[in-house]
Amino acid sequence: MNEKQRLEGQQVQSINPSDKKSEKDYSKYFETVYTAPSLKDAKKRGKEEVKYHKDFDLPEEFIGLGKGRKFYIRTYGCQMNEHDTEVMAGIFMGLGYQPTDTVEDANVILLNTCAIRENAENKVFGELGHLKHLRKENPDLLIGVCGCMSQEESVVNKILKTYTQVDMIFGTHNIHRLPNILHEAYMSKEMVLEVWSKEGDVIENLPKVRRGNIKAWVNIMYGCDKFCTYCIVPYTRGKERSRRPEDIIQEVRQLAAQGYQEITLLGQNVNAYGKDFKDMTYGLGDLMEAIHKIDIPRIRFTTSHPRDFDDRLIEVLANGGNLVEHIHLPVQSGSNDVLKIMARKYTREQFLELVRKIKDKVPGATFTTDIIVGYPNETEEQFEETLSLYREVGFEAAYTFIYSPREGTPAAKMKDNVPMEVKKERLQRLNALVNELSAEAMKRYQHEVVEVLVEGESKNNPDTLAGYTRKNKLVNFKGPRTAIGKIVKVKVTDAKTWSLTGEIIEEKENLEVS
Ligand code: 5AD
Ligand code: SF4
Repeated sequence: MNEKQRLEGQQVQSINPSDKKSEKDYSKYFETVYTAPSLKDAKKRGKEEVKYHKDFDLPEEFIGLGKGRKFYIRTYGCQMNEHDTEVMAGIFMGLGYQPTDTVEDANVILLNTCAIRENAENKVFGELGHLKHLRKENPDLLIGVCGCMSQEESVVNKILKTYTQVDMIFGTHNIHRLPNILHEAYMSKEMVLEVWSKEGDVIENLPKVRRGNIKAWVNIMYGCDKFCTYCIVPYTRGKERSRRPEDIIQEVRQLAAQGYQEITLLGQNVNAYGKDFKDMTYGLGDLMEAIHKIDIPRIRFTTSHPRDFDDRLIEVLANGGNLVEHIHLPVQSGSNDVLKIMARKYTREQFLELVRKIKDKVPGATFTTDIIVGYPNETEEQFEETLSLYREVGFEAAYTFIYSPREGTPAAKMKDNVPMEVKKERLQRLNALVNELSAEAMKRYQHEVVEVLVEGESKNNPDTLAGYTRKNKLVNFKGPRTAIGKIVKVKVTDAKTWSLTGEIIEEKENLEVS
């Protein structure tokens, strides 16, 4: 049996939730393929090689399944999820479904979920509650839950017991199986559950319907092996596996030919790109060097881990051009003690040294970051070290979070003596600093001319256009709609904390690039 047959031959299992009383009870339904999630299995990292499936095709027997039907996907969480939604939209369209913007109009509703923090999960459970009445009104409606939450045993158990309006649950490794899962859900009155916990495959050629025609995401790797002690991602997204460079380069070339202006290379830990290749030494620096040569105006990558950010990559980024000088570099904490408990595997000093090296080599490099406050037992002094590190680096923006325990992770078992009130107060103090430094960074652009990739009308004012600079600063300005999709020069007239206001000077292609 070849790999394609193996994949297609997997049985979709369906179960009747009302039959089950406890978690253990339902494993007996999965004798052929165990398709319920297991965090324990998800944690294992075997030695098996990554399998590449280059020839994915939609199963012919399911094409036409969506005739006369509409789909709606609501996406929660990170860019990886956004991009998975583009793939699922591509599969739906390939099966003959049409997209819709309203849940009331949809024949299939998917919630592509995020498990990173408890409040992300609560939003999904709230939404499932809202959808219950639609399911009652329309018995033909299918409701599905996919994404990271479906990889968690506790979530699946909760859905099985409480949210019986759900028709399908499938995991992050099962996206390419959507046609089979939909088919099974139509055929069966029971809930369909297919979640693989241990997966090492890379599947190429999946159809995609991208959300826009200006900026595109390109996956370069999947999964994460870092196991930071607070993080659920290595469990929900599996082991690190890199796409082959030739596949990535081909995809970027196609996007360039289609007129895309900006590419973001995606992975949970992009700096580990290529570490899993057995046949060659090839890393993110090599990939960026190859992509640098492609005629596309802007290339970004996210998310970086400081530990794997190597000199080769810095050397390549120093070439500038389409490699933008904005780096998102999550630091999480400024305290060596906390970094150690987080298992980040770098110190404050090493982080600062990395930033210094990048600033030295990459002209005009700017940094943004992710920070967690209120880690178990974080002291006031440790928190203040985070504040001082933030200032020392001069970060220009940050995503800031209160630590949220995630079941199955080592940190969730730690005793915690920090009251929630203290955590909230620390978050406020950190956010005040984040705002202060962002406002300062924005002021430096006052009266300057910036290059803006124009994405469309401003969200709050349709008379105004909006776009982003190379360093990812939002700029609102008055200009002709013909500028949408182009890079234009804008003179900044006003700098706010989180955005710039300006006047268009001229389209970049008519001017010399500064
Ligand atoms: N609690 C709070 N924040 C978290 N993050 C990841 N896991 C948790 C958690 N359990 C944050 C980290 C990461 C970002 C994507 O989410 O800062 O970089
Ligand atoms: Fe989570 Fe990022 Fe750490 Fe991986 S590197 S475990 S995705 S925080």
